[in-house]
Amino acid sequence: MVEAVVKRFKEVYGDEAGFKVFFAPGRVNLIGEHTDYNGGHVFPCALTIGTYGVARVRDDRKLRFYSMNFDHLGVIETSLEDLKPRKEAGWTNYPKGVMWAFEGRGYQIPRGLDILLYGNIPNGSGLSSSASIEVLTGYILKEFFGFEVSNQDLALIGQYSENNFNGVNCGIMDQFAIAMGKKDNAIFLDTADLSYTYAPISLKGAKLVIACSNKKRGLGDSKYNERRSECETALAELQTVVDIKGLGDLSEEKFEEVKSAIKDPVRVRRAKHAVYENQRTIKAVEALKADNITLFGQLMNASHVSLRDDYEVTGIELDTLVEEAWKAEGVIGSRMTGAGFGGCTVSLVKDEAIDAFVKQVGDAYLAKIGYKADFYVVEVGDGPCTLQ
Ligand code: GLA
Repeated sequence: MVEAVVKRFKEVYGDEAGFKVFFAPGRVNLIGEHTDYNGGHVFPCALTIGTYGVARVRDDRKLRFYSMNFDHLGVIETSLEDLKPRKEAGWTNYPKGVMWAFEGRGYQIPRGLDILLYGNIPNGSGLSSSASIEVLTGYILKEFFGFEVSNQDLALIGQYSENNFNGVNCGIMDQFAIAMGKKDNAIFLDTADLSYTYAPISLKGAKLVIACSNKKRGLGDSKYNERRSECETALAELQTVVDIKGLGDLSEEKFEEVKSAIKDPVRVRRAKHAVYENQRTIKAVEALKADNITLFGQLMNASHVSLRDDYEVTGIELDTLVEEAWKAEGVIGSRMTGAGFGGCTVSLVKDEAIDAFVKQVGDAYLAKIGYKADFYVVEVGDGPCTLQ
């Protein structure tokens, strides 16, 4: 992979010295969905697939971007004087947003860059290709210009740029999982205060299988912001009767006691998901630590049911993938992962059952939905790094 991206970089930008090669992973969330903007827990991990970047500092203030995933777009040129979101700038709004966020924090970017990216995260899959580009960009700036920022800062800067430059009100999970990734570990993160611990993922005879629905998200981002504001309204209603900072502060019992303060039945279900999902995530991590993978799988399944029925972010494509997975042999647990409305599912599948799982779920999906799903057996990897 490194050879291929370097070759293309030289073809596009010329072969002078001074370039470096970088990588930032994608992520998958194992459990704890739509909890990260509710002050709850999440349990994601970084993957060994992600975004490769080759970059070289220029003598002027120009910025040139090229993506091997969008060869037809060619070189997209702009400059450090024009760090503004522009519709026609497409994917380059992600790196530009990060540069803008660095400058906003007082880190002046002294010179422009030539950047080439290649991502082997399936596009629009919900495995955080955009957060991967954001963290990668921050890492490149830090490496070339010596900015003193921690990996946690890279996550916060990435999220800030996504919220304020790209207009998606996401939580911290994706950027944090990517920036703080650790091989063979998932990250148990409390989004209320960003405290976290690593939990080894020793799946003993099973693997993580991702099924990509190939449903394009379209309206997803606006629905995402809608869910977020439903939770904010429910929180404000609850705060009239109980002293909490986020829905993640409530136990299931306390929620049942105070939920009548929420004046709309739809919002009750949204808040219920946020509260119960947070508690499920805590229980799932305990189960994993106790080596109780069966319980971990059951909690994954319960998470999907709640996202389907109470939070309503699944849709027929993700439901089909998960419900077919539940029927297959050797499946320990299966659920949608990420924002929902399309994207991927994650399943824990016993090694010997993986081939049959892919065939059975894949065939049933094609028959019902009319187009193919793609399957990936993934590994848990490290955060961003310099490769060369
Ligand atoms: C997207 C967001 C995350 C998180 C998930 C849902 O991936 O970027 O912050 O809210 O959806 O859990």
